[in-house]
Amino acid sequence: MVKIAIFASGSGTNFDNIMQRVKKGVLRNIEVTALYTDQPTAACVQLGQQHGLPVHTYRPKSYVDKLAYEQDVLKQLEAEQVEWIVLAGYMRLIGNTLLDAYEGKILNIHPSLLPKYKGIDAIGKALNNGELETGTTVHYVDAGMDTGQIIAQRKCPIYQDDTKAALEDRIKSLEYELYPEVIQQIIR
Ligand code: GAR
Repeated sequence: MVKIAIFASGSGTNFDNIMQRVKKGVLRNIEVTALYTDQPTAACVQLGQQHGLPVHTYRPKSYVDKLAYEQDVLKQLEAEQVEWIVLAGYMRLIGNTLLDAYEGKILNIHPSLLPKYKGIDAIGKALNNGELETGTTVHYVDAGMDTGQIIAQRKCPIYQDDTKAALEDRIKSLEYELYPEVIQQIIR
């Protein structure tokens, strides 16, 4: 079993999807040790509890700096013997403390065809720019924002009368297939 930690900041639907696949045995040889979140009131917290997982909640602003915050997170990761970190809607840049401890072992999913539309509101930006297609990307995490080495992408069309909500749903459907596939392939 390879121990992974999932980091999320929001609704946590990718986290939930990964957990369901682990529980069904579709995602094999993976043990999710815990959910880590920087947003103690986010919906992902409840999902983590529903899955019977430890949920570690942090308030980054209560630390003197990012170093102190990540050192605290790292202590917990080491206590759980976590080998890989899977970011699933974790809306914070990873700093040197975690990058050094987990070099080449942090994955992220981002709702655009990187290198296009890095950062926040990637879906809205693709829509407003008149793109005909967009999608999602799984990549390794480095110090930049959505800049690490790309592992895999999936595309979907953008329709003329699309809404952001409809496009987000279309992208998430891709993510629910792509992320577990990549996790299975990369994490061994
Ligand atoms: C996902 O669409 C993911 O690609 C995106 O946040 C969403 C999280 O949704 N990640 C980023 O934008 C990272 N830069 P979820 O909380 O429902 O899984």
